[in-house]
Amino acid sequence: MVTDGGRLAGRVAVVTGASRGMGRAIALRLARDGADCVVMYRRDAARAGEAVAEIERLGRRGLALRLELAEPAEVAPAFARIGEAFGRVDILVWNAAATAFRPTLEQKSHNVDRTFAISVDSFVAAVQAAVPLMRDRPGRVVAVSGIDSHQAMTAHGVLGAAKAALESLVRSLAMELGPLGITVNGVSPGLVETDSAQFYVERGISREYTDAVKRIVALTPVRRAGTGEDVAALVAYLASDAAAFLTGQTIVIDGGLTVVSPLNLMQA
Ligand SMILES: NC(=O)c1ccc[n+]([C@@H]2O[C@H](COP(=O)([O-])OP(=O)(O)OC[C@H]3O[C@@H](n4cnc5c(N)ncnc54)[C@H](OP(=O)(O)O)[C@@H]3O)[C@@H](O)[C@H]2O)c1
Repeated sequence: MVTDGGRLAGRVAVVTGASRGMGRAIALRLARDGADCVVMYRRDAARAGEAVAEIERLGRRGLALRLELAEPAEVAPAFARIGEAFGRVDILVWNAAATAFRPTLEQKSHNVDRTFAISVDSFVAAVQAAVPLMRDRPGRVVAVSGIDSHQAMTAHGVLGAAKAALESLVRSLAMELGPLGITVNGVSPGLVETDSAQFYVERGISREYTDAVKRIVALTPVRRAGTGEDVAALVAYLASDAAAFLTGQTIVIDGGLTVVSPLNLMQA
């Protein structure tokens, strides 16, 4: 269904990891709010194409662009292509991440490098490439972090460290880019049911997925798991003009899971 206008009408958004999961929900929400959208992906060209088709059904322009984020040198040429196709970028959503979920003592150095290359090195390269395309209008950068950035989680040591670095960059970039009219924020989701969540639960902590989700839901104040749409609604707000005075923050969106003291869990 074609939708008219919207609070992001006329903006161009770039979303990494938008072929599936949270990234896809974010790209579709931004398109529903009026933005044209670049769907970045690594391997799944078919699902990236489906996301673009859906964006176009909403009456927006869409483009699927393959980019291996473990190769930071490929980032600048990809943004040059976006610049040629759309003339500008208004919203950059750094959503994709990948790691080998393992105890830190068992991590191979190439996995450590790859995890940081995707979440840190390529993010820096993308901001450097995107900012010149944002300069003459309000710009928005939103990074997707995770609760592993500030809470120890089994098999998340390296990813959590990369996400903590990402949150640190959110603060320093907010300071550097604020004078240019660009805000930089993070969102930090709890459990959101996607391919990655299932992979982490089954391989990372060796639990049966459905049962693990039931137990997490029971410990979550709002008594449900998160959805991509929950996170997308927050990203869409941060991307909007209404959030112009909000910068340098990483907002936890987890249904209250991490505000409950571990001491309370002893009652469960
Ligand atoms: N799910 C959760 O519970 C949860 C909780 C907290 C934080 N997060 C964070 O939320 C973000 C999205 O997670 P998700 O669960 O939606 O993930 P997901 O369903 O596994 O999707 C991952 C996306 O990232 C892309 N991607 C993976 N490796 C890449 C690489 N090397 N280069 C470029 N793109 C790559 C994938 O592209 P292809 O489809 O082409 O492979 C896919 O689009 C991640 O940053 C994750 O750490 C997730």
